[in-house]
Amino acid sequence: MYFTVEPSALTSGKVTVPGDKSISHRALMLGAIAEGQTRIRGFLNGEDCLATLAALQDMGVKIEQLSDTDLIIEGCGSTGLKPAPAPLDMGNSGTAMRLFAGLLAGQPFSSMLIGDQSLSQRPMDRVIKPLTEMGAKIESAGGKPPLEIHGGQSLSGITYRPPVASAQVKSALLLAGLYADNETSIIEPAITRDHTERMLRSMGAELSVVDTQIIMPGKQVLQGTGIEVPGDFSSAAFIVLAALLAPECEIVITNVGVNPTRTGALDILRDMGADIGVDNVRLSGEEPVADITVRSSDLTGIDVDPARVSLAIDEFPILFVAAAGARGKTTFSGIGELRVKESDRIGVMAEGLRQLGATVEVTDDGAVVHGATLAGGRINSHGDHRIAMAFAVAGAVAKWPVRIDDTHAVSTSFPGFVNCLRGLGINIASYDEASAS
Ligand code: S3P
Repeated sequence: MYFTVEPSALTSGKVTVPGDKSISHRALMLGAIAEGQTRIRGFLNGEDCLATLAALQDMGVKIEQLSDTDLIIEGCGSTGLKPAPAPLDMGNSGTAMRLFAGLLAGQPFSSMLIGDQSLSQRPMDRVIKPLTEMGAKIESAGGKPPLEIHGGQSLSGITYRPPVASAQVKSALLLAGLYADNETSIIEPAITRDHTERMLRSMGAELSVVDTQIIMPGKQVLQGTGIEVPGDFSSAAFIVLAALLAPECEIVITNVGVNPTRTGALDILRDMGADIGVDNVRLSGEEPVADITVRSSDLTGIDVDPARVSLAIDEFPILFVAAAGARGKTTFSGIGELRVKESDRIGVMAEGLRQLGATVEVTDDGAVVHGATLAGGRINSHGDHRIAMAFAVAGAVAKWPVRIDDTHAVSTSFPGFVNCLRGLGINIASYDEASAS
């Protein structure tokens, strides 16, 4: 598939975005091993979360789908999962694979986790190592998928200091920790998204958090609950930037998750001069949600504070576009982790922005992006959903049309992306390769 985007005038208005991907994965997994029913509303019906859903069904969990976004899980309790008849396919989803590695390490049966071409290149040693310290037995292809998780191991809690700030690693250890004999403790190098901790608490788990340390007793039983999934901040971020860069525009994105461990990009954009309001902040279960109002703004290049990186980890593709649309230069540092996302996001963003006429220098752990008027061109998204969406937004403000190749993965996180942008007046179209001339 590919997108074409023409220079567009945006219309002011109100939009919503699909449910949060991270919260949807966790709601499925925790609901599956809880006692009793969990009702999920606002579920992200995207390919990544559907991979998690299918894997749980393969392990015998009953999930009733009332609509695309409304599900009821019949929790099978901490010992109710059954061995799957075939390898569990995590598709493109690093979150699914790493969290399942933790969850399945404590089961009495063995499992095999596989993924697509991109996921098969991503590092899994970051979860294999600490889970092995807990007593798990996991085989991999040199630290990469597929993962063979040998069941029937007894797990003990550990105190672990992950070398990289990663909510996926933290969550994998907490999931395994539910099956451990004693306490699991994680000391993070920087604060990362805390959806697992919040959801565990909402399901009755005992857990304490002091600064960057999380301590959770072992052998805990979860109770099913109701979970309202807020709109995904990481999807909203594309619309935020489209509105900021467009002239005379005001867009309100309603019901977006604004958990402070996710919204680092708002602070970075505000440092660049963005006019963004966060209103009507309320709690939806354990998660803060709000309406975000964005007004056209003149952005100025900055040195992005590396302390904000883990709180904005998925927003760097769109922040690179913000930097290209800003006056002066923007320096990103401390973002080496981006090289092992769905693509090498530093290299791929640099390549794409250069393609559109911007000057980008790549450094060891970051990049320097010089503000420019973007021309048109053809972009290879390397099958990375967030790269494809970032360049769709760039295309709306470029001087000439932009074509973005390999866009199929957008449906992993933002089903309805093209229609959402069209609703804002962006002249974007999506084509199947087969129907292309
Ligand atoms: C996620 C954590 C982040 C993020 C990913 C989702 C999660 O990954 O990039 O999109 O749901 O826990 P890392 O923990 O590897 O940084």
